[in-house]
Amino acid sequence: MPKVVVLPGDGIGKEIIPEAVKVLKVVLKDRANDFAFEEYTIGGEAIDQTGKALPEETLEACKEADAILLGAVGGPKWDYLPASERPELASLLPLRKALGFYANIRPVKMLPCLLEASTLKPEVVAPVDMVVLRELTGGLYFGKRGRLENPNSAFDSMVYSEEEVYRIVRLAFEIAQNRRKKVCSVDKANVLETSRFWREIAIEVSKDYPEVELTHMYVDNAAMQLVRYPAQFDVIVTENMFGDILTDLASMLGGSIGMLASASMNGSKGLYEPAHGSAPDIAGQNVANPLATILSAAMMLKNTFGMYEEATSIEQAVEKVLLDGYRTRDLAKPGDKVLGTREMGDAVVEALQK
Ligand code: IPM
Ligand code: MG
Repeated sequence: MPKVVVLPGDGIGKEIIPEAVKVLKVVLKDRANDFAFEEYTIGGEAIDQTGKALPEETLEACKEADAILLGAVGGPKWDYLPASERPELASLLPLRKALGFYANIRPVKMLPCLLEASTLKPEVVAPVDMVVLRELTGGLYFGKRGRLENPNSAFDSMVYSEEEVYRIVRLAFEIAQNRRKKVCSVDKANVLETSRFWREIAIEVSKDYPEVELTHMYVDNAAMQLVRYPAQFDVIVTENMFGDILTDLASMLGGSIGMLASASMNGSKGLYEPAHGSAPDIAGQNVANPLATILSAAMMLKNTFGMYEEATSIEQAVEKVLLDGYRTRDLAKPGDKVLGTREMGDAVVEALQK
């Protein structure tokens, strides 16, 4: 029986995850009973309940699962903890690392009906259709860090092994082969040694994909190009920290960060989560946008279970709801029909049933 571990987590995670599960059960129809959806605790809630942000039981369940659907972790309630015990560092990062989810795929596509939602000019964002591939288990996030006394200082280190760079760059080329055949490798090779290393490997890998064009771009320039002329990008591949920053930026090219889904892969096993955080400022108010999570669930059906038709049905249902003028608060402009989190989930279900 395919097993999906469901981790709502903290903040709006508790509101958006039930909507995605609801949509999944509807699209799976009779086959919904063939899937085991098992809920576990993670993040701040897990700290409150068990004293650990990533309890052993949760980690074990994730190891045995085919896919994991995660909401978000963290919130001001746990900010007083030492950094290494906070939900982000003590649950999300170890989960990514322990299960080897090295490839974070974040697709950014402008749906015509959301043109107005972006803060950027419609003619700039209309043609946006890119995938940002972020390395997720190496680099600054996992390098040695700490404090020194003499002189009083702090450090984080960026380390990449050959193997880590090879596998993510290779995947970028594989993805690009089925798209517009362009890979842009983003680095800071004018300064960083890890970036020069990364660039050498990217060039090496590109030799196996003569039909795919490889370009290189410094990360500062990439940030500028993403708002200047985003249509130039097909597949961007970059290291962990650069990818974190650039994907928040790129999310606005698709209208709102509330629309940005993500899949973190290790083979066919995946961790699916919206790219946004737990948004404590709006938690518990039924206003969060569940669509990034619902679209992450669609990615799960595609990437882990090979259920392309069902995944497309979800994507089309989301488009339909938006085309009909329904919006959550983050996407709304004056005059729009504003729905709450649950109502948006219901609207997607209804569109699926038509
Ligand atoms: C993301 C988030 C996380 C990250 C945080 C919550 C640790 O910003 O998934 O992009 O930095 O990876
Ligand atoms: Mg981020």
